[in-house]
Amino acid sequence: MRTAIVTGANRGVGRGVAKRLAQLGYRTILTSRDEGNGKRTVDEIINEIGAKIAGDLVVRQLDVTDPDSIQRLYDFVMSDYGAADVLVNNAAVLIDRNGRVLQTSVETYRTTMEINVYGALLLCQTFIPIMVKRNYGRVVNVSSDAGQIESMVDDMTAYRLSKIALNGLTLMLADSVKGANVLINAAHPGWVQTEMGGPGATRSIDEGAEGIVWLATLPKGGPQGGLFHDHKRMSW
Ligand SMILES: NC(=O)c1ccc[n+]([C@@H]2O[C@H](COP(=O)([O-])OP(=O)(O)OC[C@H]3O[C@@H](n4cnc5c(N)ncnc54)[C@H](OP(=O)(O)O)[C@@H]3O)[C@@H](O)[C@H]2O)c1
Repeated sequence: MRTAIVTGANRGVGRGVAKRLAQLGYRTILTSRDEGNGKRTVDEIINEIGAKIAGDLVVRQLDVTDPDSIQRLYDFVMSDYGAADVLVNNAAVLIDRNGRVLQTSVETYRTTMEINVYGALLLCQTFIPIMVKRNYGRVVNVSSDAGQIESMVDDMTAYRLSKIALNGLTLMLADSVKGANVLINAAHPGWVQTEMGGPGATRSIDEGAEGIVWLATLPKGGPQGGLFHDHKRMSW
């Protein structure tokens, strides 16, 4: 059974991805910054679809900015499962919804980058080397069309900058694993009904999660180093 880690999975898109991976037969580690929130989410999912869970669903505390919590997750994964096959870097914040490039404080940029980019980077540095060693891995960096350079505008600038960086990171990571059966891509889930997406969002969580799950479960020879929305490649 393959092991999958999903960050920021106590709610929103991450919750949808973890639920679907467990349904598909993955030993899914639903990680949550707050362990209590993660436990409640696992209980809810089991109530919702318990009989349909073909894999396993467990919770682990993980703050992507805290190297100690990443180390604890690594120790757990290695001692209990011996490998991580899938990593979905989903956790993110949007703290400058009305942010403008000249007004948003550098502190806001730093906090956003710390979670949205360096968090994903730390997890990749921790888990990709084992994937390369075992010659199997699927990594999905959950990005956004807000990071597309060709349509860059002056709002949510800290968030946008973090997604530009995450997209660049995806390309670097993909290049770093060349030759191995480790596929690393970025995904835009669309405008999804979550706390981040807000009440006007047009897509359900399951719809938003689907394209991410597709990238997390790609067969050998699947796409490498792309940005995708609903299975279709997007321009950077
Ligand atoms: N919703 C959309 O319309 C949309 C559009 C494009 C892209 N996206 C992307 O999709 C992904 C998921 O977004 P969402 O809409 O589901 O957001 P959300 O509802 O705001 O959920 C964000 C998740 O990230 C977690 N998180 C935040 N900081 C963290 C940290 N330091 N360590 C670990 N977890 C942390 C949150 O945990 P807490 O509960 O503890 O805060 C929560 O579980 C993000 O990467 C986002 O940029 C979303």
